[in-house]
Amino acid sequence: MSTPTERVARVPLRGGVEVPQLGFGVFQVPPEETAEVVLEALAAGYRHIDTAAAYQNEQGVGEAVRSFGLEREQVFVTTKCWNSQQGYERAKRALGRSLERLGFDYVDLYLIHWPAPSQDLYVDTWRSLIELQQEGLARAIGVSNFQPAHLRRVIEETGVTPAINQVELHPYFQQEALRREHERLEIVTEAWSPLGQGRELDDAVIERIAEAHSRTPAQVVIRWHLQIGNVVIPKSVTPERIRANFEVFDFDLGEEQMRAIASLERRERIGPDPDTFLSP
Ligand SMILES: NC(=O)c1ccc[n+]([C@@H]2O[C@H](COP(=O)([O-])OP(=O)(O)OC[C@H]3O[C@@H](n4cnc5c(N)ncnc54)[C@H](OP(=O)(O)O)[C@@H]3O)[C@@H](O)[C@H]2O)c1
Repeated sequence: MSTPTERVARVPLRGGVEVPQLGFGVFQVPPEETAEVVLEALAAGYRHIDTAAAYQNEQGVGEAVRSFGLEREQVFVTTKCWNSQQGYERAKRALGRSLERLGFDYVDLYLIHWPAPSQDLYVDTWRSLIELQQEGLARAIGVSNFQPAHLRRVIEETGVTPAINQVELHPYFQQEALRREHERLEIVTEAWSPLGQGRELDDAVIERIAEAHSRTPAQVVIRWHLQIGNVVIPKSVTPERIRANFEVFDFDLGEEQMRAIASLERRERIGPDPDTFLSP
């Protein structure tokens, strides 16, 4: 019988790299707890960890991945270039510093964290990421929180399409139009705050579906993401939740249940608006 780790689909990205469809996010995991929490996730079977320079916990992620006893290539690690690190030269230095904190020679995926259009640096930053990938420091490159106009601009000005766009996406904010645009451009959709930061888990529709499958609401929401084709990176610091969120490969949501979750759309963002967000 296959292990849960083996049952996680590997989603092909541009350039031949594959990303495990279910990963583990560490936003808001305190730096001093990160190594322990990531070790828990690796023990549960996750082989994809999502961090960022801005989370200030890359060191803990690197420590856990290096000490767990797997080969480096068996764990897919993403980090991100923060707004204040944007620009051609700055982004190069930023990845260098992230690699130092992680204790790695390369990351699997490097993302521009936000477009921050008011700085007008994301195209220069993207040029830098293209070179970082050519230099072997990032196996794949992508963006986060990019709107269609930002995607079109980097593609038109550099000729290189991001492999992935990591965006806010959960049952109350489903990003239907953006997902269609990603399909057209052959960009993989990755969902952040996939559980609505836990706030959508007491939704009556989700609870009803969870009861029907004898599952938790979080497992139902993660299953919904997987079935619509998202790469998904739920976060938890709670060992039993970390484990339960990975136990989603022995049930399927039916068509009617998928439609019921689709109908929960409220166009309600939790995070900031990518067109205007600029935090230094
Ligand atoms: N690119 C971006 O701009 C961006 C922005 C935000 C997030 N992200 C990434 O996406 C990842 C996930 O997003 P997120 O951390 O914002 O939110 P999330 O994964 O949607 O939700 C995390 C919250 O849900 C709770 N939770 C987790 N599993 C649960 C369960 N089984 N039952 C009940 N509650 C549960 C967690 O509590 P406990 O931890 O207390 O267990 C935590 O409060 C981040 O960690 C980060 O890697 C990226």
